[in-house]
Amino acid sequence: MGPGALVIIGCGWIARRHAAAARRLGIPLVFASRDLGRARAYAKRFGALDAFGSYEEALGDPRARAAVICTPHDRHLPDTLLALARGRHVLVEKPMARTLDEADRLIAAAAAAGRVLMVAENFHFMPAFRHVRSLVATGRVGDLRELHLVARGFRRHAGWRLAGDPMGGGTLIDGGVHYVHNLRAWAGEVRRVFALRPPQTITDMAGEDTVSLLAELPGGVVGFLSNSLGTPGVPRFQSSRVMGTVATCVAENRGRFVALHGTRGFRFWLFRRDLRGHEGMLGAFWRAIARGLAGPLEMDGREGRRDLAVVLAAYRSIAEGRPVDVQC
Ligand SMILES: NC(=O)c1ccc[n+]([C@@H]2O[C@H](COP(=O)([O-])OP(=O)(O)OC[C@H]3O[C@@H](n4cnc5c(N)ncnc54)[C@H](OP(=O)(O)O)[C@@H]3O)[C@@H](O)[C@H]2O)c1
Repeated sequence: MGPGALVIIGCGWIARRHAAAARRLGIPLVFASRDLGRARAYAKRFGALDAFGSYEEALGDPRARAAVICTPHDRHLPDTLLALARGRHVLVEKPMARTLDEADRLIAAAAAAGRVLMVAENFHFMPAFRHVRSLVATGRVGDLRELHLVARGFRRHAGWRLAGDPMGGGTLIDGGVHYVHNLRAWAGEVRRVFALRPPQTITDMAGEDTVSLLAELPGGVVGFLSNSLGTPGVPRFQSSRVMGTVATCVAENRGRFVALHGTRGFRFWLFRRDLRGHEGMLGAFWRAIARGLAGPLEMDGREGRRDLAVVLAAYRSIAEGRPVDVQC
């Protein structure tokens, strides 16, 4: 898929998903960690070209063509700016930043450097969720009326996710931003949100462990999104529903199936390959690099910024106790 290596910045949990996808696509890898031993262990496990104990050194290596930023949210700005300054194309994990100002700085820096900036929003590339998008676009649910996206469970985080500053919020800016993206991808731009946060279960987490929001979408369509880490006892099976005048479409949240049930009967689709979309996403990034900046890029910085704008409007709504317009 073209010369040059992909540098994985930060050897944590999501780094493994990107590394596995890169291996399947035949993209050469270099690992960078603050800890050389960890970078070497990842390099051994994923058959990488090399390992570095410093992000700067890895990004300066002449074999590096691009980087995927797998660090905490407060590190996305400095780590992405560093990669762009070394002339590397960047795939930055979601959320691209913690504030719109940070997002704007990233978009401007990529444009100035003439490099691809893409946001690693894997939900955009998940085959099941793309199928929902096409069912909506081809009128299979009829005119859209409501969306109910429910992703709730119980999970105790450790480390940087417990602190407010590295996270930039709580569950909504972390796992919830994926569902915000689906809301937009399936129904269009969110105009206004009203969000509420119940009493906290996970008291050592600075950000919210649960959020529910109502979203005003184009054409009077209503979105309801509920995301939680603080709800013990809910079933593991969770789904997202898109309801129209002809049918209701149900997508299993892990992307294993989509069902369509309505006045014209019942259809069911199972998905088995690249369920979480990492291969599709990395492939799109690598093709965009090969193509240069010409042509449309799915999940570019502006898309990531729009997802973030909805999250930040929800946070303002919680703080001010009123519906808030989404800042474009
Ligand atoms: N798309 C998805 O489904 C998905 C899922 C999970 C996470 N993510 C995103 O991926 C990013 C990383 O999340 P993760 O779950 O992989 O986190 P993680 O397991 O904690 O890994 C983050 C890595 O960042 C590096 N790092 C640099 N500065 C750090 C600091 N001050 N404190 C802690 N770690 C630091 C560390 O790598 P070294 O020590 O090796 O340098 C660490 O292993 C986040 O943006 C997150 O939202 C996306």
